[in-house]
Amino acid sequence: MDIDRRAFIVGLGGRRAVSLKSDEARADALEEYLSRELNAAVNGQAPTTAAPSFPTTAEIAAQIETRPTRRGVGNLFAARTGNVKRLPTMPAKPRLVDFFTDRFANTSNHCLQSATKALRSGMTEDVVMACLLHDVVQEIIKVDHGWWGAQLFEPYVSEKVTFAIRYHQALRFYADPANGYEYPDLYHRVFGSDYKPEPYIEQTYQMVRKHKWYGEARMVTVNDLYAFDANAQVSLDPFIDIIGRQFKQPKEGLGYDNSPVAHMWRTIERPDAPL
Ligand SMILES: [Fe+2]
Ligand SMILES: [Fe+2]
Repeated sequence: MDIDRRAFIVGLGGRRAVSLKSDEARADALEEYLSRELNAAVNGQAPTTAAPSFPTTAEIAAQIETRPTRRGVGNLFAARTGNVKRLPTMPAKPRLVDFFTDRFANTSNHCLQSATKALRSGMTEDVVMACLLHDVVQEIIKVDHGWWGAQLFEPYVSEKVTFAIRYHQALRFYADPANGYEYPDLYHRVFGSDYKPEPYIEQTYQMVRKHKWYGEARMVTVNDLYAFDANAQVSLDPFIDIIGRQFKQPKEGLGYDNSPVAHMWRTIERPDAPL
């Protein structure tokens, strides 16, 4: 997807505002922008000409007490414009595919594109599965989504898959040209500065890069950003067999199997429940 760099910078409040933002905030601003454009394109809407309006760090702090929701709130819990919509009723024993069709509306296009790219380029099934799941937890929470996402899937997929989901968040800040990952170059082009990820991200990267499953986590990033392609047609169909082999679907349905994360699935199913 082409990025209108000038519009993007203007939307962020201009060069000076961009220079005051943290790198984590810049990265999230960029991904949010691309994801929103992708969803608009897939839904047949015209792309927004205006870039997102992401404030400076100081403005974020000043905004906190002026907004009804916090910035890290998941997509299901806050409408981007207007009010939230009534959600479809889910089956009594919901499966992963039901969540894709009924609840992952804001993240599924991007995740399906990412997994499609991984599948077409001959990645292992572990990587394809990790790509398919890597951002869907942003439907409930965006803060540290790699860690939350890994936890959401821990009882149902292999440890290798959750490792890749957990650490793609940190690896996105670090180039690995030998493995085809140039993402930071895009940041440089858009923002014109080097990154200084937060210390816990740097420490995580140092650990992960020496890990035997580094390649799996890295491949999620390789298939990540470039998965924002407005013209790509995606479907869950090519992944049904892979999900069958990789995902231990509980017979009681996700949310009702008494697993340590069942409550997270119930929360996604019933975000309107009062308590
Ligand atoms: Fe992500
Ligand atoms: Fe992503």
